[in-house]
Amino acid sequence: MAEKLKFKKKNLFTTSSPSETIKLGEKIAKRLRPGNIIFLYGELGAGKTTLIKGIARGLGIKKQIISPSFVLVKEYPQKNFFHIDLYRIKDFDFLMSGLNEYLSKKNIVAIEWAEKIENLVKSEKNIIKIKINLKENEKREISIESN
Ligand SMILES: Nc1ncnc2c1ncn2[C@@H]1O[C@H](COP(=O)(O)OP(=O)(O)OP(=O)(O)O)[C@@H](O)[C@H]1O
Ligand SMILES: [Mg+2]
Repeated sequence: MAEKLKFKKKNLFTTSSPSETIKLGEKIAKRLRPGNIIFLYGELGAGKTTLIKGIARGLGIKKQIISPSFVLVKEYPQKNFFHIDLYRIKDFDFLMSGLNEYLSKKNIVAIEWAEKIENLVKSEKNIIKIKINLKENEKREISIESN
């Protein structure tokens, strides 16, 4: 059984640069456990991929993290980490495509544009919702909620 995250019900952070967002991602990674699913929300260019870069780094992934926009999923099997980007997919395709098979107890999965599939994922899954809001200059407001 995957251990529950020890986040408070809701945490709010502000970052002022991409590198700060990466650092926050690294911190988040330390709290992640197998079975965690990270739903990421935020408009184009909000910083979803940037935060995931930090998460991947915090999980010990040395490879450069590039956006999976065109391949839908990037796999880092050594760390059981999977990065999914649903920008170009419709919810129907999510089930048909088998992408939901990644949501297993042994994996950590981060999903950009999660609003497209959030209703298709069983609520008993260990879900962490991260919402990124653009603020003035390079600031980003990042809320983290776990169920
Ligand atoms: N505080 C910040 N945190 C994260 N990114 C920032 C910040 N300030 C500026 N940026 C810039 O915003 C952009 C974020 O791009 P990123 O690809 O991470 O966004 P995204 O939400 O994944 O976009 P998409 O919806 O296209 O996948 C980058 O160009 C990054 O340099
Ligand atoms: Mg992205």
